[in-house]
Amino acid sequence: MLEVSGLSKKFGGFTAVSEVSFKLQEGEILGLIGPNGSGKSTTFNLIAGLHAPSSGSVRFAGEEIAGLAPAAVCHRGIARTFQIPRPFRKLSLLENVAIAAFYGQNQKISRAKAYAAAADALALVQLPGGADARVEGLGAAGLKKLELARALATQPKLLLADESLGGLDHAEMEQAADMLAMIRREQGITIIWVEHIMGVLMRVVDRCIVLDHGEVIAQGQPVEVAHDPKVIEVYLGTDAAEVQQTVAQRAA
Ligand SMILES: Nc1ncnc2c1ncn2[C@@H]1O[C@H](COP(=O)(O)OP(=O)(O)OP(=O)(O)O)[C@@H](O)[C@H]1O
Ligand SMILES: [Mg+2]
Repeated sequence: MLEVSGLSKKFGGFTAVSEVSFKLQEGEILGLIGPNGSGKSTTFNLIAGLHAPSSGSVRFAGEEIAGLAPAAVCHRGIARTFQIPRPFRKLSLLENVAIAAFYGQNQKISRAKAYAAAADALALVQLPGGADARVEGLGAAGLKKLELARALATQPKLLLADESLGGLDHAEMEQAADMLAMIRREQGITIIWVEHIMGVLMRVVDRCIVLDHGEVIAQGQPVEVAHDPKVIEVYLGTDAAEVQQTVAQRAA
């Protein structure tokens, strides 16, 4: 479904993403992990069209999409959530999501259809769809669900979920993980998931890619990645034992 090869992004003399290559099969949930500043969000920005790559290619369903504008990428079926949510604060939740449906789908739809799609997306993420449901007062977990609803309303085939911002308690984390698993299962949407809490991510993903300083330092199944000495050194550190236990429990 997606083939990223030799993807690089330089900002001035600084290389944020360096020769990143990976493939994604339809139906997979892939975890994209790594320390702060390792290039995860930049990789999403390159795939989703926010940045044009300095070099490399991004093929989606056989078509080269690197360098296309964000709206064009979205119309081809790739939606993303932003690490830092920036909803339209004066609009209702329903209006926020209806805008995504109206402009993000790969077809011209009526306002009524956009609102209906928005209501469905909000129901899926378990947010209220009434005209009086406002952005104000949504906590971190609610804002993330709203991001997810906005992405889903565009009817994506591939979802890039950038969730590596703190602010969720443990129960909310587990709920977020279950929600992504449900979206894959029930909507058939392929997912790349960025998340810092490894215990939660490793429970759900089929495969992981680990970035460090913009480079892929490991990729494989959770059990392989959790025991990789380089990954332990640069990323897992003292959490390694706990992550390995999660992976072992899942395998059992
Ligand atoms: N538009 C930009 N201009 C200049 N430097 C940038 C830009 N975007 C990102 N960077 C730099 O590129 C590097 C990678 O950033 P990126 O946001 O991709 O990291 P990340 O893996 O998403 O980190 P985090 O886990 O903190 O979200 C960082 O050093 C960052 O400061
Ligand atoms: Mg990031």
